[in-house]
Amino acid sequence: MSVAGNIVILTGAGISAESGIATFRGPGGLWEGHRVEDVCTPEALARDPALVHRFYDLRRAALDTVAPNAAHDALARLDAAWPGELLIVTQNVDDLHERAGARRMLHMHGELRSALCAACGTRRPWRGALPPATVCPACDAPALRPDIVFFGEMPYEMERIESALSRADLFVSIGTSGAVYPAAGFVRAAAAAGAATLELNLERSAGSTWSGETRLGPAGVLVPTWVDSLLPE
Ligand code: APR
Repeated sequence: MSVAGNIVILTGAGISAESGIATFRGPGGLWEGHRVEDVCTPEALARDPALVHRFYDLRRAALDTVAPNAAHDALARLDAAWPGELLIVTQNVDDLHERAGARRMLHMHGELRSALCAACGTRRPWRGALPPATVCPACDAPALRPDIVFFGEMPYEMERIESALSRADLFVSIGTSGAVYPAAGFVRAAAAAGAATLELNLERSAGSTWSGETRLGPAGVLVPTWVDSLLPE
């Protein structure tokens, strides 16, 4: 790839695992202890708002106890130094990419440290607990909810993502099982647009089939090595 090519990076829960945040699938994963249907669907929110709000309150509170790891730091370094286009598309709802210093990024599945008004659609930074029926400061409706894209809901910024994929020279997926669409289809969209594709993951994933190259290992090791290979000494 030329020194100023366009890069799209997709990250998943695996990039935050070494920071101590549980992934979803696999041993000890979040979906081991909870059924998706109970905590991550619009129906679950309607059926038991207290359970859903509490699930995300606990995950939001846990962010106070974790920090970015070497993989987040390396991506932030690449973001700051890369002369071409670069976009980090994270499926994660933690804020470790931002805390590491990443700027050219977006959260396609929402963010723990944000609240969404189900009535007016306003999103706002949020820390601490978010009880059900919290009043929205913008529209006064008792309708604030976790700003998490539930299964069955449309991810954020899909046009921006699709546009970046159409111009990508290199697509890199890091720490994702490739189990959830539309993110799982990004590697094929990038390849169809002529991009080279690379997967950095602890184990082979559903996306490995479609990746031009797969490197297996912890993100904390693979990502800094990959970033060093792109940036001059
Ligand atoms: N380094 C690199 N990869 C790792 C590490 C690590 N230290 N630890 C785990 N992994 C890999 C696992 O092998 C797995 O392939 O990260 C991947 C995590 O997969 P999932 O737990 O399925 O997480 P993710 O792919 O982000 O899930 C996608 O599903 O539940 C929804 O909205 C949720 O955004 C999430 C989406």
